Amino acid sequence: MSEITRVCIVGASGKLGRYMVRHALDRNYDVVGVCRPESVGKLADFGDRITIVPGRTNDSAVISQAVQGCDGVLTVLVPWGMDGYASGTAQAVLDHAEPHARLVFSCGWHISLDGKDAYSRSLKAQVAIGGRIGKWLRIADLDDQVEACRRIFKSQTSWTVVRGSDLKEGESEGLPVWSNRVGDAILESNRTKRIDFALFMVEALTNSDLIQTAPAIVSCRSESALAHG
Ligand SMILES: NC(=O)c1ccc[n+]([C@@H]2O[C@H](COP(=O)([O-])OP(=O)(O)OC[C@H]3O[C@@H](n4cnc5c(N)ncnc54)[C@H](OP(=O)(O)O)[C@@H]3O)[C@@H](O)[C@H]2O)c1
Repeated sequence: MSEITRVCIVGASGKLGRYMVRHALDRNYDVVGVCRPESVGKLADFGDRITIVPGRTNDSAVISQAVQGCDGVLTVLVPWGMDGYASGTAQAVLDHAEPHARLVFSCGWHISLDGKDAYSRSLKAQVAIGGRIGKWLRIADLDDQVEACRRIFKSQTSWTVVRGSDLKEGESEGLPVWSNRVGDAILESNRTKRIDFALFMVEALTNSDLIQTAPAIVSCRSESALAHG
């Protein structure tokens, strides 16, 4: 795996994205952030420490420009809208990232790599009801996030799909622990600080054990992690 010096953060202006920018700058990486033009102001705090490429993240020309020369690409996959935003974003990254680049994508526990995850009844209900309401209101399409991950899983690139548990704001509790299977006892607490989700994404860039895996994460300070870690 090559050394990481330049990193592109796709979806940099969101909550997760801004934490990832901070962690990447802490590691002295050169950072290129992609965000919707109307959200550029949300990155003002970083001043000239990052390069911003404004544009929709599913715009192939925008991504092609942003990922040039990047050894790592961190992508926030969101199900917003009804126009294939998540799958378009994933596809643009898969198509244009440097062949050697480490690609790390965010999503939730509802995504399954091999269908062997064991979901609780409440999580299944949450996904089914949330998915239906999102589609009915035409504001979110969870199936498109599933499609985005299907494309990633079948790609030959050095991808990792990080599956976040329920997220909370607040101070860091440290690098989350993980399992390949939702349903494992270690994940039972189902909570992670958003700042630590971002930390895991950035750490994954240099962890070759995570290549072509979909780790489901939980806070290392959560009850289930302390009991089963
Ligand atoms: N929220 C949770 O509890 C949770 C749980 C598990 C996993 N996750 C995963 O964590 C990641 C980050 O989620 P988050 O909830 O923390 O959100 P977030 O970091 O605030 O990111 C939201 C992203 O969606 C973009 N966005 C918002 N509305 C949009 C629209 N209508 N069209 C296109 N893009 C839009 C935002 O861009 P702008 O800055 O331009 O608005 C931003 O990049 C996602 O991959 C999610 O699946 C979240």
